[in-house]
Amino acid sequence: MFEVKMGAVIARVCLLLMLAVYSSYGGGCNFPEGWTGGWFQSGIPGLIYINSTHMQGKGECAETDSNDKFLVYDRNEDCYRCLVIHEKHKYVLQYKETYCGQRDSLSTMCESITGDAALYSMFRKEPRPLPQPCPFHPAPFTFTYSRGSGDCANPPSRAESCTDDSRLLLRYMACPDVPGTESNVEELICLATWKEGSTRYLVGLIQQVQRRNSISTDEDMYRCFVYKGQHADKQVTYNIAQSGDATCNGLTSPVDGSRTMKLTNIDDEHNRCHFPRWVVEHHKWFSLDHEHQYHFTTKNATLKIMKQDGSYEEKRLVCHSILEQKEKKLVKLVAHLTQGCESGHVCVVLARREGAVLELRLGSSLHDAPHHACSHDSFAKHVTLITTSLYPVRCPMLGRYNVIDSLADRRRRRQQLTIDETTGEEIAENPVECVMGQYDSASIGCGASQDTIEFQSACTSTVYSCLGGWREGQLGLVVAAPARGGGLTHALCFLYTTYLRNVSSGSAVQYLSVSAVSRSCDRAVTPGVAGDKAYNLTINGTCEQSSKYNSLSVRLVPGWVLLLAALLAARR
Ligand SMILES: *[C@@H]1O[C@H](CO)[C@@H](O)[C@H](O)[C@H]1NC(C)=O
Ligand SMILES: *[C@@H]1O[C@H](CO)[C@@H](O)[C@H](O)[C@H]1NC(C)=O
Ligand SMILES: *[C@@H]1O[C@H](CO)[C@@H](O)[C@H](O)[C@H]1NC(C)=O
Ligand SMILES: *[C@@H]1O[C@H](CO)[C@@H](O)[C@H](O)[C@H]1NC(C)=O
Ligand SMILES: *[C@@H]1O[C@H](CO)[C@@H](O)[C@H](O)[C@H]1NC(C)=O
Repeated sequence: MFEVKMGAVIARVCLLLMLAVYSSYGGGCNFPEGWTGGWFQSGIPGLIYINSTHMQGKGECAETDSNDKFLVYDRNEDCYRCLVIHEKHKYVLQYKETYCGQRDSLSTMCESITGDAALYSMFRKEPRPLPQPCPFHPAPFTFTYSRGSGDCANPPSRAESCTDDSRLLLRYMACPDVPGTESNVEELICLATWKEGSTRYLVGLIQQVQRRNSISTDEDMYRCFVYKGQHADKQVTYNIAQSGDATCNGLTSPVDGSRTMKLTNIDDEHNRCHFPRWVVEHHKWFSLDHEHQYHFTTKNATLKIMKQDGSYEEKRLVCHSILEQKEKKLVKLVAHLTQGCESGHVCVVLARREGAVLELRLGSSLHDAPHHACSHDSFAKHVTLITTSLYPVRCPMLGRYNVIDSLADRRRRRQQLTIDETTGEEIAENPVECVMGQYDSASIGCGASQDTIEFQSACTSTVYSCLGGWREGQLGLVVAAPARGGGLTHALCFLYTTYLRNVSSGSAVQYLSVSAVSRSCDRAVTPGVAGDKAYNLTINGTCEQSSKYNSLSVRLVPGWVLLLAALLAARR
């Protein structure tokens, strides 16, 4: 009992001691939680770090009116100063301060700040969450600019959108008649916007695109802007003034700054097309592995390609003009593509395959002029797309197959060798080997609805549902998905070729070379050789035939195999 009381007394004494230490500089206070972190201020090397109690270079929070006035204690100099800090945006703080001196009351000290005292701006370094959308809509724009020696209007400069709408690409042109103008490409990253009276401010980072490797300092990159937008009918214009340094000092009017710009939107609504109905019938398509989403939006004129969780947009395509369309199976068109801050026109081919499978091919380069986009047909890889509403379809190449050179195959040959070499005495069989993804046989379409492919080994089997299949000359393609677990989110493409080969007995046997590719139907994969998995198969009878019987018939009756091959070909 006594010990407990003693403990409480000690705790109280400690608390009093701590309070005493605190009150030696006035009780202490806290800065708002949201200010914690590193801040850039022009003219101050490194960053200013703020935590709940300290502001680096200024001191410890000693007293506050819980609004914008803070009395801070500078321990090094043993003096106090008043800071009046305005949070303009969660990423922008502006403040005025007094000299550091003798302590007085908060209000007395702060009142000594005059209206014309210097105003300092601090900008958040590495803001999280990421910056906000730029306030200039709708890109693209043409613009004129001036750096004090006249308007550079001819040729016009261009401002283009990026897939990330907190970025804007500024393509400055050089005007022969305006001294001091040069062509240059800059990327503007919009960090913060706020309004004071009727004046709108923007703080952004300017990155040099063509001189990306050159080192830019924070002093070079942070810029303040004042802007004003005007909307009239479909015409949108913005007057923008940019600061000459990494502060907002002296910037009050959108037509007066170190650099001024006038943006005018380019109305390209009239030269837009719509993706065909048979494409946008499903608004959302997915890559086979479901890693990427292909989303047709905005009046069926835009295709957004993004990470499956929608967090990050990789590419945006706006339909520009349709060049040709074959029935409801194939369309070739020109689209305006934006990827990061790069943009241009690209050739697009969309093909509807059997089943709900769509294939997309993009031209391999971007062109400024739309009519150049499809003039040199060089394409990137096929992208195979599926929807979430897929139904199993009949598989091609029905039959029972053996995997050539499978583990079972090798074991069989090893045993034969052993028998030959010794006196014909058979050696006890090894325990059955099992290796993941290694199969001995396959049955294609042997289930009741003929829509499955089953790979089997002595100890396991994997079943796929066929979702669509087609042929391109000698090459067969099947989109399939595991029938169990995961299913559609792990769809894959089987590429295959078939051929007949004479065996030593003089008969012909049908071979099937297959490769499984997980991401798309990649035509560069040679069936049986490359891909995520590759198998060479020989036919071992039709689905209907009993295994013993057909293994004999296939081997001994070559004509039967040819007939089977012909039948299979005819069914397609
Ligand atoms: C705040 O920063 C100061 C100096 O940088 C440090 O001494 C203090 O412990 C920090 N306080 C907290 C709560 O992190
Ligand atoms: C977009 O396509 C869908 C499906 O074909 C159609 O129902 C819809 O009306 C289209 N929207 C526009 C704006 O054309
Ligand atoms: C297979 O054998 C048949 C007849 O025996 C012959 O006509 C054919 O050319 C042979 N094919 C190959 C690829 O050797
Ligand atoms: C399938 O056969 C081809 C040649 O016919 C060979 O190059 C390839 O390695 C074989 N694939 C497998 C998985 O055994
Ligand atoms: C054909 O399949 C049956 C059963 O699936 C098997 O017993 C037989 O060994 C196979 N034939 C060959 C040549 O592997």
